[in-house]
Amino acid sequence: MTAAAADPRLLGRTVKRVPFSAAQIATRVAALGAEITAAYPDGELLVLGLLKGSFIFLSDLVRQIERPLQVDFLVASSYGDATESSGLVRLVYDPETRLEGRNILLVEDIVDSGRTLTRLMDLLLQRQPKSLEICALLDKHVAQHLRYPVKFTGFDAPNEFLVGYGLDHAENFRHLPYIASLQ
Ligand code: IMP
Ligand code: MG
Repeated sequence: MTAAAADPRLLGRTVKRVPFSAAQIATRVAALGAEITAAYPDGELLVLGLLKGSFIFLSDLVRQIERPLQVDFLVASSYGDATESSGLVRLVYDPETRLEGRNILLVEDIVDSGRTLTRLMDLLLQRQPKSLEICALLDKHVAQHLRYPVKFTGFDAPNEFLVGYGLDHAENFRHLPYIASLQ
């Protein structure tokens, strides 16, 4: 369905814009899967999803990667008071799989300031993986705190607050099949 203003999933809110429709997302995720397949010609691959935001993207993406792989998740939490001030990140759920010596693809929903990813990359690199790359569905390209390149990007995102396809506002709207900004 299209993102009609009357979408019952929207808690009475109105869509301002749909920068990425379900069809556009499907097309791009398929291409991204092919890119990732080609980038890892051999060896094993661990796809590590950052919860919760990546859960829908990751589930679609891994089905487009035509090579052996394993999946695990991690949950990070900012601590200190305001996320802005400290930028510290702690793992609330640590992957069960060993990371040392493995090819890891870290999957994130959206890169905004880049703080979360930078801290996570620092943390994960201490586990001495063989390789560690970032795949983000959306990149706002405003990241001033990202010390690592995003190797695989789904879309360049407008600098507005987006919901749907895993992205939330106060835990709502993650289940929208499209990506929207709300009034
Ligand atoms: P960063 O550390 O500032 O890059 O923030 C990244 C995290 O903030 C993402 O993983 C999202 O959980 C959240 N976030 C940033 N921008 C948006 C947005 O537009 N919609 C929903 N969540 C967002
Ligand atoms: Mg969030």
